[in-house]
Amino acid sequence: MAKSVTRFVCQNCGAVYPKWQGRCDGCGEWNTIAEEASESRPSGPTGKSSGGRKIEFVGLKGRAEPPPRTRSGIAELDQVLGGGFVPGSIVLVGGDPGIGKSTILLQAAAKVAAAGKRTLYISGEEAIDQVRMRAQRLGLADSPLALAAATSLRDIAASLEEERDATLVIMDSIQTVWLDSLDSAPGTVSQVRACAAELGRLAKTRGFALVLVGHVTKEGTLAGPRVLEHMVDATLYFEGDRGHQFRILRAVKNRFGATDEIGVFEMTDRGLVEVSNPSALFLAERRGNISGSAVFAGMEGSRPVLVEIQVLLSPSANGGSPRRQVVGWDSGRLAMLMAVLESRARVGLGQNDVYLNVAGGLRVGEPAADLAVAAALVSAATDRPTPPDMVFFGEVGLSGEVRQVAQTDTRLREAAKLGFSAATLPRRVARGGRAPSAPDGLRLSEIGHLADLVA
Ligand code: TYD
Ligand code: MG
Repeated sequence: MAKSVTRFVCQNCGAVYPKWQGRCDGCGEWNTIAEEASESRPSGPTGKSSGGRKIEFVGLKGRAEPPPRTRSGIAELDQVLGGGFVPGSIVLVGGDPGIGKSTILLQAAAKVAAAGKRTLYISGEEAIDQVRMRAQRLGLADSPLALAAATSLRDIAASLEEERDATLVIMDSIQTVWLDSLDSAPGTVSQVRACAAELGRLAKTRGFALVLVGHVTKEGTLAGPRVLEHMVDATLYFEGDRGHQFRILRAVKNRFGATDEIGVFEMTDRGLVEVSNPSALFLAERRGNISGSAVFAGMEGSRPVLVEIQVLLSPSANGGSPRRQVVGWDSGRLAMLMAVLESRARVGLGQNDVYLNVAGGLRVGEPAADLAVAAALVSAATDRPTPPDMVFFGEVGLSGEVRQVAQTDTRLREAAKLGFSAATLPRRVARGGRAPSAPDGLRLSEIGHLADLVA
């Protein structure tokens, strides 16, 4: 016997309740609880009588082949995916409205279709004509992509059930799809979860790769917070500043590849164009010999990226607490670094307002940026430019010590490749009796403490 269960689910945190209540005990939000799908659950005791089949256990040895991949033909996207789309997998692509999710996926889908693989693009947000117009503008109108505008999950599922040889299916967006057996509106946790589960089941049984587009709410989480992320195989975020040309696709979860991988694109009037040398792009507008600027040799996933860190100090207008404004970095980390600079290296930042910006709209998450930020702060405080041909990287500890970071050689090589001739970095240790090498033509100043930087 199966019995149907009605549940009430918080739209903010996903907590489940047997009956409706005004406030969620889980997250404390008001009016976020909505009714959810009736679910059939097997009743009766578990065990022999429930009719389950015996599962088979195997050893760890044995053949484990890497999953086959469908390449999108967009190298930056393939890299972030870990080599291409995996059949039967679900990829969630999240990002702010207008950032370019539909554009990149239309481009990818058109390419896959042009390679002779059956590809479906289901738009729940835009009418057929709108998608066609975009395809024309992108020069993709000749691609044999199959396009549909639909939002009813029942219709979509029935159609996908018929598909025998689909390779890739794009659902743009998961928040527009709805299941008529649920009372709640499209985009609610219950709808998003039920629809994603059903589409995911189809992807697994029919063997196509499924891409779900998801909008990000103003709080910065994918609507249906967290409920989608654990249902999918990979989550990619499309980020970038609307005011800037370029966009970064970042893998935050990937069962078939590395996380932290990024792909860099530039938004042009002909769609998104891959940027294969991001460092050159991020540094394009840099003007040397200005105080408060330092170039950070960073890593994003497996690739090195050079970016400019900019600091501006200005006398605080309001006598009280000075402002700390940070774009692209962690403000807590900045506060810590300033405290360390003041107490360990005697660099007075005093009652100045501090503005920190990572040029170009990149978000830097690495502690290795500490040294570059410190260099920019010192440069701003002393009004002396850092050498324009120098890069910085290294983590700074609370006692002002400069610590080793990973991938030193990769960072140095990238700096040399882009024409830099000097680097300030943590003191390196000899490994296996060999002194660490430096790329040709790079002057290295290895330091052990922030005081050395100031000196
Ligand atoms: P879109 O892909 O619709 O964003 P999303 O699906 O994430 O909401 O991107 C829309 C923006 O991109 C829109 O502001 C216009 C811009 N755009 C271009 O600059 N060039 C182009 O070729 C296209 C198609 C869009
Ligand atoms: Mg869109």
